[in-house]
Amino acid sequence: MTIETGVLERYSAGAAAIQTDLCCPVDYDRELLAILPQEIIEKDYGCGDPSRYVKKGDVVLDLGSGSGKICYMAAQLVGDQGKVIGVDMNDDMLALARKYQSEMAQKLGSNRVAFVKGQIQDLALDLSAMNEHLAQYPIQKAEDIISLRAWQEKQRLESPLIGDNSIDLVVSNCVLNLVHDSDKEQLIREIFRVVKPGGRVAISDIICDERVPEHLKQNQHLWSGCISGALQELDFLDAFSKAGFIAVSYDKWESRPWQVVEGLEFRSVTITAVKPEHEPCIDKGHAVIYRGPYSEVYDDDGHVYLRGQRMAVCERTFRLLTGETYATDFIGILPAQEIEGKPWDCATGTLRPAAATKGGLHQNTCSPGGGCC
Ligand SMILES: C[S@@+](CC[C@H](N)C(=O)[O-])C[C@H]1O[C@@H](n2cnc3c(N)ncnc32)[C@H](O)[C@@H]1O
Repeated sequence: MTIETGVLERYSAGAAAIQTDLCCPVDYDRELLAILPQEIIEKDYGCGDPSRYVKKGDVVLDLGSGSGKICYMAAQLVGDQGKVIGVDMNDDMLALARKYQSEMAQKLGSNRVAFVKGQIQDLALDLSAMNEHLAQYPIQKAEDIISLRAWQEKQRLESPLIGDNSIDLVVSNCVLNLVHDSDKEQLIREIFRVVKPGGRVAISDIICDERVPEHLKQNQHLWSGCISGALQELDFLDAFSKAGFIAVSYDKWESRPWQVVEGLEFRSVTITAVKPEHEPCIDKGHAVIYRGPYSEVYDDDGHVYLRGQRMAVCERTFRLLTGETYATDFIGILPAQEIEGKPWDCATGTLRPAAATKGGLHQNTCSPGGGCC
């Protein structure tokens, strides 16, 4: 049995009957659970609650949607202008999630949730379309595999399951660890591909305090049980930074491990990150002040921000640092007068003299703890 077939079997069983050993206690928002069918709530194999990060109007993608619990919770938060797509590779899980689709559409007031068949490490490939193709062109000889590969390439390009830059928020609940180690890098590249510039990810998953040794990875039961496929706690964050995400952070960190195996601690966490905007860096005279408490901090591009100093930033960085993600850390100072922008050519750590910013509007002036006058 391979890792994939082990995972398929385990979650087919999980769709048929509740698997108590796959349940990790999570404190979901009771109000959002109130309209969910009991079967969906009971067949919950998540380890966190990424629905907390959903905003009104978002297009949300849930990786490994299982019974559809997070999708149906998110659907209440996106409102009728938003949309939720759940992707899963398991037919039994997809059938379970779809079983309640029309009932939920009635309760929600519109059909804003879709469940699609795909592997989360290959979000361009539509596995339902591939099944239809295979019904017409079954594989009978080695050459058919070559033809199938060509069909897959064309399908990925011409009608991808999830298009480039199409998602506001990617969520996932206890699934990334199930993907084969050799596919994990591609998985995170795929997440990056589908998120819109400026879009976000909120991933709840299991991580390990040390790298998991090979003999535990070979244990099918531990792998399909969301344990031995877990990434080490720093490797998990680094994988997202390496793919190009910024503001990569541990938002939730469960202090009590969910499982301890051979002394290794496996715990539930939620990480959040942002896909940067692809705009040129134009200097128009903006500045930011890092509030503290640290004497200095660095961003993902290696720029330093000294506590209390007016640091010169380009317009794009200004928007990022004064936007929602970092709003509590930085005060923004707009240029007093509109000046013609020029491509950014300042060294990191360049200060903006007070004289150059005097009279400019200040943003995010309230301290995180309140205290505005
Ligand atoms: C631990 S369950 C989590 C289900 C759901 N997110 C929840 O919160 O209850 C893992 C789910 O991910 C699906 N899954 C695992 N590996 C996958 C992959 N590579 N591609 C797509 N789905 C996958 C499984 O079929 C299963 O439904």
